[in-house]
Amino acid sequence: MSEDVFGRFPFAPDEKRPLHIRRDMARKFVYPAARPHFSDLNYLYVSTEKLTVGTWQLGPGGTYDPPDLHAGDEVYYLLDGTLTEHNPLLGEFMQVSKGEALLLPMHGYHKGYNFGQGIMRALYVIAPKIWEDQFPPMDFEGDKMKMYKGRNNPSLPSRGRMQEWHGHGTTDDIGRWPVPGPECRKEPILFYHISEARKLVNVHGVQHPMLVKFFVSNDLVHMGEFILPAGGNGSRASEPDSHKGDCALFVEWGPITVFLPHSQETYDVQPEEVMFIPEGVEYQLINYTAGTAKAIFSVAPGL
Ligand SMILES: [Fe+2]
Repeated sequence: MSEDVFGRFPFAPDEKRPLHIRRDMARKFVYPAARPHFSDLNYLYVSTEKLTVGTWQLGPGGTYDPPDLHAGDEVYYLLDGTLTEHNPLLGEFMQVSKGEALLLPMHGYHKGYNFGQGIMRALYVIAPKIWEDQFPPMDFEGDKMKMYKGRNNPSLPSRGRMQEWHGHGTTDDIGRWPVPGPECRKEPILFYHISEARKLVNVHGVQHPMLVKFFVSNDLVHMGEFILPAGGNGSRASEPDSHKGDCALFVEWGPITVFLPHSQETYDVQPEEVMFIPEGVEYQLINYTAGTAKAIFSVAPGL
């Protein structure tokens, strides 16, 4: 399926438009299809020439094989469970739990496990492109993975000590969080676990403030949370915003009403659904509910 879907789902690059993408409109597939016994379940929401956004899921005990790598940076946001992630060339492991995020820089091999008792499900964005030649890599030798008592550990590269990074930043760190993009893509490629304390917190709007938390913000991709409380004199609405790139909003807590002020188009986007907003289109988020609304945004390349 991959060659005619990635980069042009659900529309060709010259046919992009604002689109409310419900669960039943997502394209489902198992990856890798050649090895269903070691695969994960994917829902693909949108894939343009700028970004690809979907979810992937493992049942308890599950893993996929072989390790994957991409022609872009990938960011996960954990919707359910705990992911145990392996950087197989460096022997780096980490655990990412519900509500946390993970940056896998471009060309970094990665493999995920679910050692929990429930499902593990992650929202992902990859930007700009998922695979080099539109086909998944299948040439990784499993015995070349660095891990506890791995057979080929001595011949695999050593990462050295991971550098320290601060747990919070400033507005100037938008565009270079958690580290500048070119830096994180240099060998050896390390992964970055963005726990709750390591999200880059900010606020959008003076009159109508909305909480913004970035997981990752670099030269290729921006992913984070828009958090809009309930309550106020009127319905709580964000200030108008638009992006220098494509934007996919995944509603985690909602529904969220997405309003396009120029066309006055209105979408009521339910939890687990996505609103796609092409480059340059202005939008506002409105919360007409009695609870906090939360959307996970993916924007690429420019914010
Ligand atoms: Fe991946």
